[in-house]
Amino acid sequence: MTRLSRSGCALVPSATRADRRKARWLLALLSASGLALGQPSDTLQARSWAAACTGCHGGEERAEPGMASLAGAQRESMFATLLDFKSGRLQATVMQQLARGYDDEQLRAIADHFSSQQQP
Ligand code: HEC
Repeated sequence: MTRLSRSGCALVPSATRADRRKARWLLALLSASGLALGQPSDTLQARSWAAACTGCHGGEERAEPGMASLAGAQRESMFATLLDFKSGRLQATVMQQLARGYDDEQLRAIADHFSSQQQP
């Protein structure tokens, strides 16, 4: 057994190395495109959903005193906060109701939108 596989390697050492190189290159390409897919997307749709938030939270301008600014927020923590409002895990006066108006992907798109903005 051992002998067979060893001679198999010896027969095509360069092809094996080239294949490995190709495989590594393909993996790098795949993970690069995976990263690209994971990039926050800021579509026109996301911007219009987010517009519903800026009346209270401000947009790229600073929010009114006492209100959290959303622009420049950390994407994952904002998304988690929105899910917590939606599920009721986080007590809120209005956000619990508002967050229920969006499905999870829409909330993610909204978080992507604000996190891609500059902090005011
Ligand atoms: C009617 C005013 C109003 C609107 C519109 C509004 N919010 Fe809020 N938001 C609040 C208030 C008030 C709080 C504090 C929690 C509470 O009592 O509901 C809050 C809290 C938050 C927080 C937590 C901030 C922190 O750092 O604690 C996030 C995130 C948030 N809102 C996101 C959004 C998003 C996204 C939208 C749009 C889909 C939105 N809000 C629309 C009033 C609003």
